[in-house]
Amino acid sequence: MHHFRYVGQKLHCESVDLAAVAQLYGTPTYVYSAQTMADNFSRLAQGLAGLEVQQCYALKANSNLALLRHLANLGAAFDLVSGGEIRRVLAAGADVRSSVFAGVGKTEAEIRFALEQGIFALHVESEPELERINHIAGTLGVRAPISIRVNPDVDANTHAKITTGKSDNKFGIPLAQAAGAYEAAAKFKHIELRGVQMHIGSQLTEVGPFVEAVEKVGPFAAQLKTRYGITYFSIGGGLGIVYRDALASGDPAWWAALPPAHRPLTPEAYGAALVPLLRPLGLKVLLEHGRYIVGNAGVLLSRVEYLKRGASRNFLVLDAAMNDLVRPAMYESFHEVVPLQRDTARPALVADIVGPICESGDCFAKARQIQQVGEGEHVAFMSAGAYGYTMASRYNSRLMPAEVLVQGSRFELVNARETFETMIAGEKIPASLRH
Ligand code: LLP
Repeated sequence: MHHFRYVGQKLHCESVDLAAVAQLYGTPTYVYSAQTMADNFSRLAQGLAGLEVQQCYALKANSNLALLRHLANLGAAFDLVSGGEIRRVLAAGADVRSSVFAGVGKTEAEIRFALEQGIFALHVESEPELERINHIAGTLGVRAPISIRVNPDVDANTHAKITTGKSDNKFGIPLAQAAGAYEAAAKFKHIELRGVQMHIGSQLTEVGPFVEAVEKVGPFAAQLKTRYGITYFSIGGGLGIVYRDALASGDPAWWAALPPAHRPLTPEAYGAALVPLLRPLGLKVLLEHGRYIVGNAGVLLSRVEYLKRGASRNFLVLDAAMNDLVRPAMYESFHEVVPLQRDTARPALVADIVGPICESGDCFAKARQIQQVGEGEHVAFMSAGAYGYTMASRYNSRLMPAEVLVQGSRFELVNARETFETMIAGEKIPASLRH
């Protein structure tokens, strides 16, 4: 469910006409619905009712400061993967004392910074990392709270690039070796064992792999609780969202009409399957969902530059490109594209939807059927709130897009479009070349 819908023939986010946003701030622009994020956050909490839960929002999905503050206000902590992400949470006016720090390549500076800021736990991915953390904690005169990320070797049945819980992925310590790693960790003077962690992949739309992973790691978590007194089990993130019928899925009626067997995984079904497995452990449960919280809460607005009618196909050329939203080029992922101004009387068009970047990979959709739209009209990419802006780049010297937050009938710029001056601010021409 989300808060993007046509009111009359105009696409709205909550009570805001998106054409007004495009007109005021230009395009490409990301627009986020605060209410959708809040709804997603509370649905997850309710889905896992009966457990003690701390949601640690994975801010790699979207790290805009306004969104972070909004989630912190709702009670979220954070799943962090870099010093930059730690600094973002602090800059948003939140603290990291309930947050966790993950990642296979934490640098010394990042570990030190996380400990200085009082991080709730470091999620350790290897034995050498454990040694490094122990050493740094020693120099700071503290005990570093840690959990080990175990790799349960479960097939998440998702895109290969976002599968993380198979034994051939770079993540975590294999379950069979994890007991030894905890034993080693317990011997370090400056390490405190606080929990256990796993994450099997992203954009999961069925509950089976989650159940399999919890069934594999749960008994191990119980042993760790008895042996070392750990207090929590982080089951990672990964809950998927609807991409194909993204707009329609905002309507509860769309969900109701689906036969249960075809219904994508919901927080309710996720909770119903996992709570009975987790409750007997008597551990606090950490969730690290990113995409589920913000994915369907954001759209990318773009302007149609040209409708180019080629010999064998049509091309709808937009002002957004793969640098603004890389997911289709990188993962062949599907994003629904809808017009801001709906006109059912117009004929449908079948076109490749492309950006202006100089490579054929800059294609959002092949032979997509869409209402006919022409130069100067606008479209929205649905379900673009997660891994949209955070994966954007300046390829082709294109400016980073703007970001807008909608709250009811209000909308506000929460990240101005980059300027040319800031884009080149760090660059310089050496004196030796200036002649
Ligand atoms: N926890 C850990 C340890 C993770 O590695 C990730 C995501 C998450 C939580 C959050 O997963 P989520 O709930 O958002 O699925 N760029 C890709 C997705 C990469 C996900 C990486 N790890 C995409 O656009 O699909």
